[in-house]
Amino acid sequence: MAGKVTVVGAGFYGSTTALRLAEYNVFDTVVLTDIVEGKSEGIALDINQSRSIEGFESKVVGATTTPEGAGYEATANSDVVVITAGLPRKPGMSRMDLIGVNAGIVRGVAENIAKHSPNAVIIVVSNPLDEMTALAQLATGFPHHRVMGQAGMLDTARFTNFVAEKLGVAVGSVKTLTLGSHGDTMVPVPSRCTVDGVPLSQKLSAEEIDELVTRTRNGGAEIVALLKTGSAYYAPSAAAARMAKAVIEDAGNVMPVCAWVDGEYGISGVYLGVEAQVGRSGIVKVVETDLSATELAELKVAAEAVRTKQADVQSL
Ligand code: NAI
Ligand code: 2OP
Repeated sequence: MAGKVTVVGAGFYGSTTALRLAEYNVFDTVVLTDIVEGKSEGIALDINQSRSIEGFESKVVGATTTPEGAGYEATANSDVVVITAGLPRKPGMSRMDLIGVNAGIVRGVAENIAKHSPNAVIIVVSNPLDEMTALAQLATGFPHHRVMGQAGMLDTARFTNFVAEKLGVAVGSVKTLTLGSHGDTMVPVPSRCTVDGVPLSQKLSAEEIDELVTRTRNGGAEIVALLKTGSAYYAPSAAAARMAKAVIEDAGNVMPVCAWVDGEYGISGVYLGVEAQVGRSGIVKVVETDLSATELAELKVAAEAVRTKQADVQSL
């Protein structure tokens, strides 16, 4: 075990992420923070009491923080920080409806984190994801490669699950990919999808693939509508925790993540969902993949849509 990870926000997303990270048993310390007095400390105590049952040694530390920065000493010198602080969606809301309030929260959190953990790699999950990732980079002043967002792993996992269920096959035999934004301009990439190495287009009709693509694009809203009081967290936390693990282990895994794009696909100067190699320095490099002409056009549309919104967050 080595290193320290902080998860900011001890709501559903943050607490499940902290639990997964502790159970991986790769970090010495998992810090969980929240502005609600005692919430993180209570969850930390609870998780630590499961250690002898589940057999992990990572220590979870809970800390109450204030938006002004009190309590952030507990996060000092983190190697990785996952930012989950912010409101989740309610039924009928889009992720973009959260932008005003979550921008204030994420900006404050990012500034405090930068002060106490100047060398951390940051993984943002607060929504709207692409915009909050851009804002966290601005607020920390960190190099772009040390700030990334989690969305593509989740959207890809949803797509994979839907394909596996449709075909009645193991999820392990299915490979899918989604790029673009974590929103309306998400770009599922059917041309890169396979089942046991066979192109998805040989397994399902174009109409059936379209249905699964649409369900993937609406995957978050489908769960919000069922839960009624919040949004998904089991699959989302699995995605963020795996990214944090890839960083501390310097794994070099290629993952779909929200990363700063600088010329790849002919797109520059924007945080966008792409495949990237993730390691100790954060984004090691963005990996371009072959896309059909339609998919590439959709990715460019997504880039322009998020570029406009990311410019707006500078003033929030
Ligand atoms: P939640 O409401 O359960 O938890 C949010 C927590 O943040 C609360 O405990 C709250 O007290 C805390 N918080 C608020 N301001 C804070 C601050 N300044 N410092 C520290 N903590 C603060 O919400 P949940 O379900 O955990 O979702 C968190 C965020 O993640 C939401 O914005 C949601 O939309 C987003 N999300 C993103 C996904 C993605 O794929 N990127 C997937 C699912 C959720
Ligand atoms: C999700 O996709 C709401 O972004 C969240 O589940």
